[in-house]
Amino acid sequence: MTALHLTGIGHAFLGRTILDRVTLSVGEGELVALVGPSGCGKSTLLHIAAGLVEPRQGHIDRSYTRHSVVFQEPRLLPWATARKNIGLALPATSLGRERQRRIGAAASAAALEEDDLDKYPVQLSGGMKQRTAIARALASEADFLFFDEPFTALDPALRRHMQDIVIRHAGTGQRAGLFITHDMAEAVRIAHRIVVLDRRGGGISGERPVPLKPGQRDDRMIFETVRHFMKEDPLFRHVEEIDERRAG
Ligand SMILES: Nc1ncnc2c1ncn2[C@@H]1O[C@H](COP(=O)(O)OP(=O)(O)O)[C@@H](O)[C@H]1O
Ligand SMILES: [Mg+2]
Repeated sequence: MTALHLTGIGHAFLGRTILDRVTLSVGEGELVALVGPSGCGKSTLLHIAAGLVEPRQGHIDRSYTRHSVVFQEPRLLPWATARKNIGLALPATSLGRERQRRIGAAASAAALEEDDLDKYPVQLSGGMKQRTAIARALASEADFLFFDEPFTALDPALRRHMQDIVIRHAGTGQRAGLFITHDMAEAVRIAHRIVVLDRRGGGISGERPVPLKPGQRDDRMIFETVRHFMKEDPLFRHVEEIDERRAG
C-alpha cells in the first residue's frame, strides 16, 4: 500500500524550472530519505508533497489521514511554553487529561524532561527546541511525517539521538515518512530506501534500498554502506555538492 504518491510533479520559480516530472512514492510504514545537492529542489518538493505549495504540474495522492512537518528550524511560538507548543498540534477536541497524556508521551519520546515542558523557547537550548518541534509532530498522532533537514544545526551526539527517535517513530507500523537530508550517513542510518533528486530539475535520478532495517544497522555497516554508495555508485556522485547556481 502506498501512503503518498507524487506523479509528474513540475515546478518553477521566476521562470526557472526547479522540478520536472518528479514521480515518487512512499509506502505504508516506510521511511524514505530524499537526498540531493543543496539547491536542487528538495524543500520545494517537500512543500508540494505536504500541500504547502501548489505545483505547476502533476498530482498528489495521499492515503494517509494526517501529516505533520518538522522543518530545519524549530518554528516554535515564542510566547508559549514547550508544553503549549507541543499541544498546538493536537485537535481542539482533545481536552484535559487525554491532552496532557498525549503531550507527555510525545515529550518523553523526544527525550524531554518534565521540567523542560514549562520553559519558554528562549530558555531552551537549540537541541531542546528541535526536540520540542519533534514532540509536536509526534503528539499530533500524524500517520505521515515530513522532515526537512531537521538536525543540521545539532551537534553529532544529539543528532544521533534524534535520528534514533525518528527510527523509532517514523517508518514503523502504520506511520510513514519522507526525510530530506544531504547527509548520506544520516540517510543510510534511518531510511528503508534512498531516493536521489537530480541537481538540475531532471527529476528523480534513481533510488537504492538500504540493506537491513533502520535500527538494525551498526556504525560499521553504515560507514561501509556510505563509502560504497559515494565511491562506487555513480547515482550518488553529486549528492554532497553545493549547487553551482548559488555558489560563488
Ligand atoms: N520562493 C522562492 N522563490 C524563488 N526561488 C526559490 C524559492 N524557493 C526556492 N527557490 C529556489 O529554488 C531552488 C530550489 O530550492 P530548495 O527547494 O530550497 O532546494 P534544496 O532544499 O534542495 O536546497 C533554489 O535555487 C532556490 O533558490
Ligand atoms: Mg532545503
